[in-house]
Amino acid sequence: MTASVIGLSGSPNTASRSRALLELALAALERQGAGPTRLIDLAHLPSDALLGRREDRDVADAIQAVLDAGIVVVSTPIYRATYSGLLKVFFDLLPQDALARKVGIPIATGGGPGHLLAVDHGLRPLFASVGALVVATGVYGTDAQFRAGVPEPGLVERIERAALEAASLAAGVTI
Ligand SMILES: Cc1cc2nc3c(=O)[nH]c(=O)nc-3n(C[C@H](O)[C@H](O)[C@H](O)COP(=O)(O)O)c2cc1C
Repeated sequence: MTASVIGLSGSPNTASRSRALLELALAALERQGAGPTRLIDLAHLPSDALLGRREDRDVADAIQAVLDAGIVVVSTPIYRATYSGLLKVFFDLLPQDALARKVGIPIATGGGPGHLLAVDHGLRPLFASVGALVVATGVYGTDAQFRAGVPEPGLVERIERAALEAASLAAGVTI
């Protein structure tokens, strides 16, 4: 079955905070009836294919999954003040306007609050460059907002709000 909601994790870490937020967003979207969800760990894709050196079936499948989705949720750690290189190389493989008529949710986690605006100055333009309509509520969590990998309630509430916005927008997108 084609998933209507795709989650892309741009973290190379197995115990990833940003991925934990992504999982919560996908669960919230499923509860809101946005359709079946699928999470893709970009770190599991072959790096030489991600760098465009060769074609690969799994990378092609991930790109197709994005093209078939109605909502695309992206999560990333903040590296050097912006989203991860892993996320960047994957987006570089997408066709122009790949996310037109799709809704995007940006999620990031950082070591501290200093790079909070990377969501607005990094992830929003990234989404816009491929035509996505991005929800008003972006999600940014700091490492201090997690206890044993579990995000604090304020962060979870933000994810719920972003998911609600995305589900509403996706239901009404006709442009
Ligand atoms: C190479 C590297 C660069 C980082 N650069 C930043 C940074 O510029 N700003 C920041 O707030 N945190 C930075 N961090 C911290 C991570 O963004 C933070 O720990 C994040 O929550 C990790 O997400 P993850 O658990 O999903 O991988 C950096 C971490 C690494 C490993």
